[in-house]
Amino acid sequence: MEISVLEVGFGTGLNALLTYTEALEKHITLHYTAIEKYPLPPEIYNLLGYAEQLNRGELDVIFRKMHEQASCTFSDKEMTFHFTKMEADIHLPASIPGNQDLVYYDAFAPSSQEDMWDLSLLARMYTALNPGGILVTYCAKGQFRRDLESLGFTVERIPGPPGKREMIRAIK
Ligand SMILES: C[S@@+](CC[C@H](N)C(=O)[O-])C[C@H]1O[C@@H](n2cnc3c(N)ncnc32)[C@H](O)[C@@H]1O
Repeated sequence: MEISVLEVGFGTGLNALLTYTEALEKHITLHYTAIEKYPLPPEIYNLLGYAEQLNRGELDVIFRKMHEQASCTFSDKEMTFHFTKMEADIHLPASIPGNQDLVYYDAFAPSSQEDMWDLSLLARMYTALNPGGILVTYCAKGQFRRDLESLGFTVERIPGPPGKREMIRAIK
């Protein structure tokens, strides 16, 4: 299986690391592109200790490479993880690569960063996805759901992670 994932907001790298562990477990070839305008400095990401918290100390080297390098490829017996990190503003025209199967829309909440939930930006996510592609996000606000539907997405509310009642899965 081969999947292309786009992450909006690389942040601490947690989503990327967890996706790597899934690719490893499920033997997937993954093309992962993360966009981040404000990359975290080493003095912050070196303190996070995600690999230890997952009881997978061997993942620390992967995690650090994701932060240190703009692109790298991790290969194991039956999986390959092609990682690209773009230091870019998502609002810039050239910043969204196409042919994506899955978008992790992980911007800060509309209450603190309204511009990240703008209809025109969401329309660019729709364009970036392949037919049948999926956008997932923790934001389940009514206006946001209606915006996604107006673009042609089929929107589902699904149970969220611990501490979050529901999240959104939108299918193109
Ligand atoms: C909720 S955090 C992402 C958390 C991340 N997915 C993780 O696994 O840790 C949102 C991220 O979006 C980034 N961001 C904010 N404005 C942006 C923009 N205009 N373009 C790209 N990234 C942006 C922030 O710097 C922040 O790291």
